[in-house]
Amino acid sequence: MEKKTAKAFAPATVANVAVGFDILGFPLDAVGDTVTVERIDPAPGASPAVTLAGTDGVVSTLPTDPERNTATAPLIRLREDQGLPFGFRVSVRKGIPLSSGMGGSAASSVGALTAANSLLPEPLPRESLLKYALLGEELASGSPHGDNAAPCLLGGLTLLRSLDPVEAVRIPVPEGLRVVLVHPHRELDTRSSRGVLPRDLPLKEYVAQSSRLAAFVAACYAGNLDLMARSLKDGLIEPRRAPLIPAFHSVQRAALQAGALGCSISGSGPSVFALCRSDDEAEKARRAMAAAWEAAGVPCDSWTGRISQAGARILENGQAGGAA
Ligand code: HSE
Repeated sequence: MEKKTAKAFAPATVANVAVGFDILGFPLDAVGDTVTVERIDPAPGASPAVTLAGTDGVVSTLPTDPERNTATAPLIRLREDQGLPFGFRVSVRKGIPLSSGMGGSAASSVGALTAANSLLPEPLPRESLLKYALLGEELASGSPHGDNAAPCLLGGLTLLRSLDPVEAVRIPVPEGLRVVLVHPHRELDTRSSRGVLPRDLPLKEYVAQSSRLAAFVAACYAGNLDLMARSLKDGLIEPRRAPLIPAFHSVQRAALQAGALGCSISGSGPSVFALCRSDDEAEKARRAMAAAWEAAGVPCDSWTGRISQAGARILENGQAGGAA
């Protein structure tokens, strides 16, 4: 029987990962968005449409115009490209706070695309959904960067070799590696956070950052966490964005003193991530980072976990009116 509804989970993502601005990211399953998509057959003589039934959860103030919402806009293009004779009704439950640097817009797009794709007569390969997810990123931030959308969609520590054509390289994750993600209760929109970055960068900074990116990737392949600790530093983007994040340096210091391998801004901020050698070390770093923000008068939420290898996934598929 044809499937009529699908619910998908799309995880939060840490983009940039200190050394790979716009090209490196990974998902964390501890927090994410859940998107339900229903296939809608148009009334006789009417055109199929993509509509937004509603948004709830930790965010409820997103654009309601389907052309401007990051969950629905990619589905409009998907429907047109594929010549689908039906439309979609979309409901979004946000687990990812707004303008948090945790890949919220990518998660809404990827969740909607993953659910809608499962309702197609012939679902597309996952990779081919990325170009639609990038439309959502462009809408949200004015830039079609893929370092949230690709890991959210595909899972794993993901390096984007190219966006057009899409070529995403999955980097191995060393045994034991754990993530800490801390979100201060502040908003920083990606557009403003990109706005402080210069168009051109000094050659010397580029060379230093390239060596750290290459060493970080080598550390992943070799499982060499000491090399990772020496490499996981951002000399290019972090110094320019840190002033936008209250108490950033105290939080970073707290993570490193607690034994984290490295700590930097998650995506465009203001959330901050750390990588650690074990569950115990991650828990220690999480507490230290949260305490540093609380001491600065900034309440926060925090999570720990592994880099998710799964990415977005279907939770339920079913007939309209009830999930199978
Ligand atoms: N690479 C992007 C940026 C990620 O840092 O602006 C945005 O989440």
